[in-house]
Amino acid sequence: MRNQERDTGGHPEHEDHGNQKFPPPEAFRARARVRDLEHFQHLYRESLEDPDTFWRRETEDLLVRRHWTKLREWKLPKIEWFVGGELNVSESCLDRFLEGPTADKVALRFEGEPGETRSLTYRELHRQVVALAAALRARGIEKGDRVAIYMGMVPEAVIAMLACARIGAPHTVVFGGFAAEALADRLNDSGAKAVLTQDGAYRRGNILPLKAAVDIAVDEAPSVETVIVFRRLGQELCPLEMRPGRDYEWAELLAQAHPDQGYAEIVEAEHPLFILYTSGSTGKPKGILHTSYGYLAYAHVTTKYIFDIRDDDIYFCTADVGWITGHTYVTYGPLSNGATVVLYEGAPNQPDWGRFWQIVDKHKVTILYTAPTAIRAFMRAGDEFVDGHDLSSLRLLGSVGEPINPEAWLWYHRKIGRERCPIVDTWWQTETGGIMITTLPGVHATKPGTAGVPFFGVKASVLPPSDEAADPDSGGLLTIDEPWPSMLRGIYGDPERVVQQYFSTVQGHYFSGDGAKVDEDGYIRVLGRTDDVLKLSGHRVGTAEIESCLVGHGAVAEAAAVGRPHDIKGQALVVFVSLKPFRRGSPKLEAELADHIATEIGRFARPDEVCIVPSLPKTRSGKIMRRLLKNIAAFEEVRGDLSTLEDRDVVDTIVQIFSARAR
Ligand code: WT7
Repeated sequence: MRNQERDTGGHPEHEDHGNQKFPPPEAFRARARVRDLEHFQHLYRESLEDPDTFWRRETEDLLVRRHWTKLREWKLPKIEWFVGGELNVSESCLDRFLEGPTADKVALRFEGEPGETRSLTYRELHRQVVALAAALRARGIEKGDRVAIYMGMVPEAVIAMLACARIGAPHTVVFGGFAAEALADRLNDSGAKAVLTQDGAYRRGNILPLKAAVDIAVDEAPSVETVIVFRRLGQELCPLEMRPGRDYEWAELLAQAHPDQGYAEIVEAEHPLFILYTSGSTGKPKGILHTSYGYLAYAHVTTKYIFDIRDDDIYFCTADVGWITGHTYVTYGPLSNGATVVLYEGAPNQPDWGRFWQIVDKHKVTILYTAPTAIRAFMRAGDEFVDGHDLSSLRLLGSVGEPINPEAWLWYHRKIGRERCPIVDTWWQTETGGIMITTLPGVHATKPGTAGVPFFGVKASVLPPSDEAADPDSGGLLTIDEPWPSMLRGIYGDPERVVQQYFSTVQGHYFSGDGAKVDEDGYIRVLGRTDDVLKLSGHRVGTAEIESCLVGHGAVAEAAAVGRPHDIKGQALVVFVSLKPFRRGSPKLEAELADHIATEIGRFARPDEVCIVPSLPKTRSGKIMRRLLKNIAAFEEVRGDLSTLEDRDVVDTIVQIFSARAR
């Protein structure tokens, strides 16, 4: 089963399309930045053999205040790029466009969930970033202070990120779907001094009360001194209590701010730009640290080549700013290229599943970057939601977040791309900061379900698993063999852990946690995680986090979380729980445990099933055997080596309970 799940992202294929090749459409190729393999190979070779020349030339257009003297220094855990360089990241995204016609070019085109449109030019975006930067300084926030951003998809979220960057205060964006508890953990771990938030956000026609969650979280987070609230909805739709001395109105602070105080703080290349929390194999999220010059350089160059971005493009990345894609490919990458970025506030099915296509039509989107789980949901909803809309403006499509099953790829290609648009299937991670494996849209033929080749500056390998007992169907270990500019610089608060987490599975190489295969053309097909990290609708969730949340509930003795293939979400979460003595299982308690996860972590992590069982299967040494539970959750035969199992009956009992529920 592993085989099937891995090979198709959990989506069994009826036809084998995975080996078909789709060369770049001629019309696209003809005007692409890189349009033949020789040129690509020349640049790729240069990026590895003469990286100084490559990075110097490719980042020439960034606005930096002091040029670097040494490209990189690399002695783990120390990782430095563009040594000696000084800059302010926001200047490359804003100030550099203020002279000439680009000043009046639209930087952000906002589409609210209710359907209104708002546009900010580069000049206007700059003005607002400067004002917020000044307001932050006026609140005593300085270079090095951490600022949390807990907002929905509104222009102010991007303004917030850039304003933090402007004063050199590392931001930590917390996805608005995270619950108050999860927000509090992140505020405490980062020691945030301020929180930027909004009253509430529109979500699927409802209101997500963000400020109310901040109130709960800040009560548990003593480092927070200031909360700045953007009014998206207004007092009538979303009544607020503002706490005097702590809470400030966004609009008032900006009106009072003195623009002189919004100057750009010039920082050294390795100054922290942001911390972004992500899930790993432990119960606690990791604060992935990214710094300034290297991150910006890589975001800039990948956006330029992979999306082949041009002055007249209307670029729409559907990711939320709460995830890494929203950092690199909503904010820093496209803005440092002077692009027009469409920002959509709401759900893909509001008012119906045609919303993305309506936005593409309305704003004449040329580049669309979205996730396989969304594509599968559109496919499932039916072609009639696409048909009424004019998609002829599109010229390039992208996919990110998990392996895309060939069936969904082909639908995207035919139905959305009308067979005219190349698809870039981009593999990367929170830790990598930018796209690592992809095709270049004017160069490479694409294959449904196969990401492609390493980008410039990236040396990747698929190594045989070190563990001989490893499942051969999960492929080899996908590693990155040399440092790249936007690689994570550490785990916040624990700089040494990065070595043990990422560089010890394969000595000296960065191990991604993913399994992969290389095909006869040298293309890399990413098969999925080899560790205990799940992708629920593209959201990264560690099973250990779910388990530690469950055992925090008074009724739970032990818990095991596993993923099972799901047609739309890619993976669904199933949890098995044993109870403390004298506690009795019931459907009500199961629902309560599902709620517990939703309120502690967030609704996106709510399990599809909670199954209360007498005890969990363990090895004789007491380790929970999740592999067996995974089989059970997927209604498969329990297979593999059972010799280490302590008590065979436990498995039979769970199988009985689980299949009785399904009926
Ligand atoms: C994990 C990283 C990268 C931004 C969004 C996710 C999976 C991501 C692909 C792809 C196959 C992919 C991997 C990776 N993944 N893109 N194109 N093909 N798998 O960032 O939340 O840090 O998750 O997403 O398993 O390790 P993230």
